[in-house]
Amino acid sequence: MSEPILELDGLSKVYPGGLKALDDVNLTIRKGEIFALLGPNGAGKTTLIGAVCGLVRPTSGTIRAFGHDLATDWRKARARIGLVPQELSTDMFEPVQRAVAYSRGLFGLAPDPVRIEEILRSLSLWDKKDERIMALSGGMKRRVLIAKALAHEPDLLFLDEPTAGVDVELRKGMWAIIDQMRAKGVTVILTTHYIEEAEEMADRVGIIRKGQLIMVDEKEAMMARLGRTEAHISLASPLTELPPALGQYPVELEEGGASLCYRGGDGTGRGKAEVADITKALIASGIDYTGIDVRESSLEDIFVSLLGEEDEQAA
Ligand SMILES: Nc1ncnc2c1ncn2[C@@H]1O[C@H](COP(=O)(O)OP(=O)(O)OP(=O)(O)O)[C@@H](O)[C@H]1O
Ligand SMILES: [Mg+2]
Repeated sequence: MSEPILELDGLSKVYPGGLKALDDVNLTIRKGEIFALLGPNGAGKTTLIGAVCGLVRPTSGTIRAFGHDLATDWRKARARIGLVPQELSTDMFEPVQRAVAYSRGLFGLAPDPVRIEEILRSLSLWDKKDERIMALSGGMKRRVLIAKALAHEPDLLFLDEPTAGVDVELRKGMWAIIDQMRAKGVTVILTTHYIEEAEEMADRVGIIRKGQLIMVDEKEAMMARLGRTEAHISLASPLTELPPALGQYPVELEEGGASLCYRGGDGTGRGKAEVADITKALIASGIDYTGIDVRESSLEDIFVSLLGEEDEQAA
């Protein structure tokens, strides 16, 4: 395992007024990983990012980045951290290229027009380089924020809702950029409401709710552990009761006996195998079917069911 790049230990944030936006968050991020932070509105994602980026002062707990304690050694870590903020708050009157080049300078790096051109081209912003930022569309403005964050070649990059309000094509372009960063060994922490995005990009996923990190796991492991298979088998003629041969499987009759529904498996492929066994058992019992619809659950299903369970516990 590679070295830890970011370590949050008992991190809490209580805003003036008493709202607890982060509640004892413990998290270690390793070099080169792509980590997706998922959670509903107000869960604390932006607060967490703000705490690491020096925009939010933690109430308690420690943050270590690149081995430096941010409370005492902020400067050493700062130059290596990049942030694409959720809110658009950039110098609207500046032309694109100058704003991006300026961001690089802010971090004390020598000007590098070739690198800036490369970044602008990779974000399809090169033909807009002389436009004022205010004259760009919302999605283009967001890409300018990304260009600014990339301009100082950070080792740890935070993307807070990088593709909110960005169309599907650009979102794919964004994913390609994250892939390039991965190849360069950059560590990326992103928040997103598009769970598809986490599923596509992330190595690990953390789920945050009401300031608490309720689950952190490898994406594959999370899907394997919490994933389910659901299959609907349409029967040629309705059944009044389940055939005895299916007694061992998690199946039910639905639609007045016209279809057989399987809900089971564990995301490891066992569900699909059981569905195949069920179809064989049906044939062996002389029961004909006309179609099968099999669906593996997604990260989204897992996310929704986890948040739902939490709500039930809270109620
Ligand atoms: N400056 C602030 N002062 C007081 N409360 C705040 C402040 N910033 C955020 N909060 C509150 O802290 C909680 C967490 O907010 P945060 O912005 O971190 O959520 P989020 O997970 O990023 O949500 P979203 O998905 O909507 O971006 C919310 O209840 C929010 O209202
Ligand atoms: Mg936010």
